[in-house]
Amino acid sequence: MKFFVDTANVDDIRELESYGLIDGVTTNPSLIKKSGRDFVEVITEICSVTDGPVSAEVIALDTEGMLAEGRKLAKIADNIVVKLPLTLDGLAAAQTFSKEGIKTNVTLCFSANQALLAAKAGATYISPFIGRLDDIHIDGMDLIQEIRAIYDNYGFDTEILAASIRSPMHVKECAIVGADVGTAPPAVIKALVKHPLTDKGLEQFIKDAEEAGIKV
Ligand code: G3P
Repeated sequence: MKFFVDTANVDDIRELESYGLIDGVTTNPSLIKKSGRDFVEVITEICSVTDGPVSAEVIALDTEGMLAEGRKLAKIADNIVVKLPLTLDGLAAAQTFSKEGIKTNVTLCFSANQALLAAKAGATYISPFIGRLDDIHIDGMDLIQEIRAIYDNYGFDTEILAASIRSPMHVKECAIVGADVGTAPPAVIKALVKHPLTDKGLEQFIKDAEEAGIKV
């Protein structure tokens, strides 16, 4: 499973890149707002920090507007993925971009049928939101499983990019049910490495090494 980091904070992206922990970046307008920076400026900087796919979301709600914005975004760097909303206009834009060879991430997916439509439109990625379904008492992981079954039934190439991941448990379950990618905030990605027995064991080994006078 690939890991994307869901943030527009360039320092966090740089840090995770330095550990070799991430394969790409996803952003959305709320994350851009949180960064307090100019949209194009921050997306350009992110593309200079990572070679992996970088999702940048359009604002237009009509197909023509999405195509114009998406083509502008795609010119920023080769690794741009144009993020489109899961609407009829968004699906039409995804279809055109697919023919033009521009990568797309169809976002705000909350049902298996929506994911089926996105795959038929030739989306590169589909983003089902796990946490936001959990928030309203619907198991977000069931959706990932349903999409996996549907995409496998028909051999769709669209990658399942599990989004709205809120915890290490979400990451593990996504990996078990076969999501292609998980996008998570920096803190969740860093939390994956933590285990109290790792910390305890390491502390003991270092203590014993000192007492034994081990030098490397
Ligand atoms: O980028 C889309 C998604 O990952 C947002 O997550 O936590 O705001 O539901 P969240």
